[in-house]
Amino acid sequence: MDHETSTGHVTRKAVLRAAFAAGIAAPAVLMGVPALARTLTEGEAAPALTPECDDGDDPTPPQTEGPYFKPSSPLRSSLVEPGTAGARLTVSGYVFGLACRPLAGVLLDFWQADTNGAYDNTGYRFRGHQFTDAQGAFRLATIVPGLYPGRTRHLHVKVQAPGRPVLTTQLYFPGEPRNNTDSIFDARLLMSVRDAGPAKEAAFDFVLNVPQGPGPSPTATATTPPPGGSWAAGTAYRAGDRVTYGGLAYVCLQAHTGQAGWEPPNVPALWRAG
Ligand SMILES: [Fe+2]
Repeated sequence: MDHETSTGHVTRKAVLRAAFAAGIAAPAVLMGVPALARTLTEGEAAPALTPECDDGDDPTPPQTEGPYFKPSSPLRSSLVEPGTAGARLTVSGYVFGLACRPLAGVLLDFWQADTNGAYDNTGYRFRGHQFTDAQGAFRLATIVPGLYPGRTRHLHVKVQAPGRPVLTTQLYFPGEPRNNTDSIFDARLLMSVRDAGPAKEAAFDFVLNVPQGPGPSPTATATTPPPGGSWAAGTAYRAGDRVTYGGLAYVCLQAHTGQAGWEPPNVPALWRAG
């Protein structure tokens, strides 16, 4: 595949996403093997080793559940009902384990506000759960949630691999003014969002704290020291600012104050290589 060989920076997730976007099945050879293996010369030992995703992902951070979760949501991947008001939104992506292999059968339970910022606490509007398919993919059809006082725009979700603890977290939209003032907001949870006519198409990949063999357990692996560069936590960055980190150059995509965990390239919504 062209996008495997065109650059050394292409990640397993990028390959999967490209395959997904093109509507073709992800190559079977990629599904069972950590992507890192593809970059090794034959006979070369894998470096010791990378329990996380090949592009350096940490597990998706948890967030507060908030006051509006309700159990027993309906099984459905579309929260759009006849007459539903609001800009259409799809959210698609994959759920990975620590070795960056997709996880099938993962429960995703979404809940959100309606276009006016209200939650349905009596019924189940804008609530639904689904499971990742055999490729670890999910797709939610919904609307862009409205704003309500005190919060920036967000979706709520619980993600649970079979027999594993529940990850409760939230997903965010780039470019929202309130992202800068909402103390719960975390840029690591920004979706990538693009316009598709009047609708929006969002993407987000979850990484669950699920060990995947073969390979050392995460706790057995020494962490590498921070790579350093001109990037620094606490710095107020503006769009267009340039930093170096880990020997690579990055351009700031939207204004924010740097925080631990938001280093490039951890947060693609904030930094792109360049
Ligand atoms: Fe909420």
